[in-house]
Parts: sequence; structure tokens; C-alpha cells
Amino acid sequence: MVSKDAFWQRQRRAPLYEALVRHSRRQPHPFHVPGHKMGRSFDREGKQQYGPLLPLDLTELSGLDDLHQPEGVIAEAQALAAEAYGAEETRFLVGGTTVGNIALILAVCRPGEKIVIQRNCHKSVYHGVILARANPVFVVPAVDPATGVAAGLRQEDVERTLKEHPDAKAVFLTNPTYYGMGIDLRQMADVVHRFDIPLLVDEAHGSHFGFHPELPASAMQSGADAAVQSTHKMGTAMTMCSMLHLRGQRIQRSRLFQALGMIQSSSPSYALLASLDLARRHMLTEGVSELERVLPLLQRLRERLASLSWLALPELTENSVFATLDPFKLMLDLRTQALSGYELQQVLEEHAIFPELSASRHVLLAASTGTSAADVEKVWQVLERINPPQTGGVYPIIQTGGIPSSSFLREQAMAMHEALDADRAPIPLEAAEGCIAAEMVIPYPPGIPLLVPGERIDRQALEWLLAMRQQKLRFHGVHDPNLATIQIVT
Ligand SMILES: Cc1ncc(COP(=O)(O)O)c(C=O)c1O
Repeated sequence: MVSKDAFWQRQRRAPLYEALVRHSRRQPHPFHVPGHKMGRSFDREGKQQYGPLLPLDLTELSGLDDLHQPEGVIAEAQALAAEAYGAEETRFLVGGTTVGNIALILAVCRPGEKIVIQRNCHKSVYHGVILARANPVFVVPAVDPATGVAAGLRQEDVERTLKEHPDAKAVFLTNPTYYGMGIDLRQMADVVHRFDIPLLVDEAHGSHFGFHPELPASAMQSGADAAVQSTHKMGTAMTMCSMLHLRGQRIQRSRLFQALGMIQSSSPSYALLASLDLARRHMLTEGVSELERVLPLLQRLRERLASLSWLALPELTENSVFATLDPFKLMLDLRTQALSGYELQQVLEEHAIFPELSASRHVLLAASTGTSAADVEKVWQVLERINPPQTGGVYPIIQTGGIPSSSFLREQAMAMHEALDADRAPIPLEAAEGCIAAEMVIPYPPGIPLLVPGERIDRQALEWLLAMRQQKLRFHGVHDPNLATIQIVT
């Protein structure tokens, strides 16, 4: 009982945030950067909006600690986060989950070493592999037959891959997916640990996991060695703020922290960092009851949406290829040829409802503790009024998240980093069959590379790319965003 009280006493504090407020109240004479000097010199109009935040936009002053050498209030805030999220150690990140993913790969792989990677991972994982000059062994995820979107990895595929590549240094997977689908992480951790290597989890979309019985367990609760969470996505931290959680001894922490030191700014924003301190406190002290409030609203919306014949939402059944489903992600899967996901997004936006993403056949709504009954009601009112003609079938075109899993794998003719360093030239996309890609082609969202540098552009890849181009999808990673041309190794 005493220790429970002590837990709450600790967790009600926000040491980093409190230190910033204390400092700003001293009416200091700031002879340090940033030059706006706690908001005194700032665009007049902009100050109306930014005003209250600027005095907290501080730097490594006495008493405010140093993100790269945490010993004071940042160390305290990180320790509280570790306790709250079930980690042994937590590090705050101000470059998003992007920097956490990259640093983990730099920590576990030396040049040429193998790492098992989920093929539908975020581009930051690929970027980590490139920077580490590692050798990725891709595993293709299961595809949900109902929606066509890629879900998580199957245990048996990972186990087989590890048997084939016993020299792999780690397994890096994404859980949950952007769409909220997850695997049984505990079983996956057992499989990976049998090979005595670390399980690294990109948990960008799962910072709320483990905080309510209706939510899946978090990666830390499931035995992962590292998990990176975008606290700014499904939690309440400011944009760019993530946490890296660690357990166990399989990852060399000094190497990891060295990598973080190399890729994060030497001037991290204190206003952002303190929002992580507050997001942790908020989740424990207010967030859980907010989850409790929002969950029934979302459940009621799902029930109402079930009456609309032209759309469906993924459901967890005993035949699902996923083991968990985040109730805060509403994937509106269109079952009509009369309306595309892009068009539905437009309709929603005309009513000031702004989805997380859309693709040809679906729209993703991301709810959170901040979602109100009015938000949910508005979604229902707009969707209920849409009555697309029933032409049968589904919208017949490419969906970025729904490319069949086999289409993700092709011959790696050259290491990714070698292809990036090689001489290159743009050629018309139509003429690229048989060439080696010199750039990554990432339909965005959801940010899953269809081609990575060094891969041979086979007929299948070319067909997908031509179809996506026709759909006017946005591409990241490419020099020509319209994909009229593609960079190949010459
Ligand atoms: C699965 C996944 N991992 C990592 C990231 C990168 O996270 P961040 O934006 O926090 O850098 C994203 C961003 O969308 C993502 O969807």
C-alpha cells in the first residue's frame, strides 16, 4: 500500500516541466540562445498564439539538465516515464520515432551484419539499415484478406528466417500497424529470444497500449527488448516527441546512446521535451479515465456504421491474421465502386472532419483520449447521409496499404547503401524494367517502401508503380514526385 502511494506521489510530478516553469518565474536575464529571449523578441502577430509557450523554450541552463547527458531533471522525468511504461530505462526523443528506430539499428548492427526486418516497416527503419550499412533480411507480413492491408509478421516466418540466418543480430518489427492491427507480441518475443537476439519494436502507434484492459498489451509488457513510441501520435505529447523504452541486457546501451547523440539535435527543444513529461503524467492521472470515456463512444459508432452497407471496419475474429486491434483506429473500408477513399476524405473535410489518411479503398480515422462525443457524432451524421449507388464490388484500384505481400519482395541486386553511393541517372519509369533502383519509392501515406535502393525493378514492381502514378499517389523518397522518371544505378 505504501509503495502504491509512493508510486502515485512520484507520478503526479513532472520534474522537467516544473523546472522550466520555476526558471521562467525567476524573471531571468537570458544571455543565452534562443534569440527570442523567452518570447521578448518575436513576431507580434505570432506571439498571440505562441506567447505562453515561449518562456519555456529554454536550453541547457543550470538546473535544466542535458538530454545527451541526463543527470538532473531530464533523468528524473525519463525515470518516471520508464516506471509508467514498464521499461527499465526510457529516453526522450525529439526527432520522433524516426530517430529511435535509426539509433536502435545503429546500436545492434555493424556494417554487413544481418538484421531481420518486417518488409512493411516505416521508412525510418530502412534509413537505419542504410546508415548502419547493415544487411536486411526481409520478412513479408500477413495480409488481411478482408481489407487487403498488410498486417504483422507470422511467428513461423520469423522462426524460419532466423533458422536460415542464425547470424542475424536482431528482429525489428512494427506493432501495431498504422491501421491498428497487432500480433501476439509475447509469443513473438519468445521465438526471437530463443535465438538470443533482441526484439526491437516500432510501436509508433501504440503509446496508449497497456493503459486500459480493452487495449492490447504494450511491447514492454510483452517482453520486447526495445520499443519506440510516438507519444505525439496516439498520446498527448507535442509533435516530434517520442520515447525509447528499454529492457534487459541484449542491447548495448552505451552504443545506443552514442547513436542517439549523433542523430539528435544538440539543441533539443525543452518545450517539446517537457511535453513528454506532461504526456506521461497526463496518461496516468487523467488519460485512463479519458480512455474510459472515449471507448464506448467509438464502440457505439462502430455499431452504427455496421448498418451502412457501403463500408466495413476490420474485425477481430478467430480467423483474423492479426491478434489485436486498436479500438482507437477506425479504418473505413469502402465496399462500393462508387466512392474512393480519397473522395470520402474530401467529403469528410467539407464537413471539417480531418482523417489521418486515405487511400483508394479506405479512410483511416485516428481517435484518442482527446476525441469528443461531438467529434464522433459528426462522423456518424456525415457518413449516414452518404448513399453511394450500389454497384457491387469494391473500388477497383490500387490501395497503398493493400499491395499483396508477395509484391513487397524482389531481388536485392546490390546492398542498399552501395546503390545509394553508385552513379545514377533518371530514366522514364516505363523503361525501368530490369534496372536496379537507386532510390527508395515510398507511397505516402502509409510510408511503406515499394522499392528500396539496390532492388531490381521487375515487371510486378513496374506495374504497381505505373498504377499508383495513374492514381496520382504521393511518393516520398523519389527525386521526381510525379514518378515520370525513376533514378536507377548506371
Ligand atoms: C509505423 C511508423 N513508424 C515510425 C514512424 C515515424 O514516427 P515519427 O513521426 O514519430 O518520427 C511512423 C510515422 O508515421 C510510423 O507510421
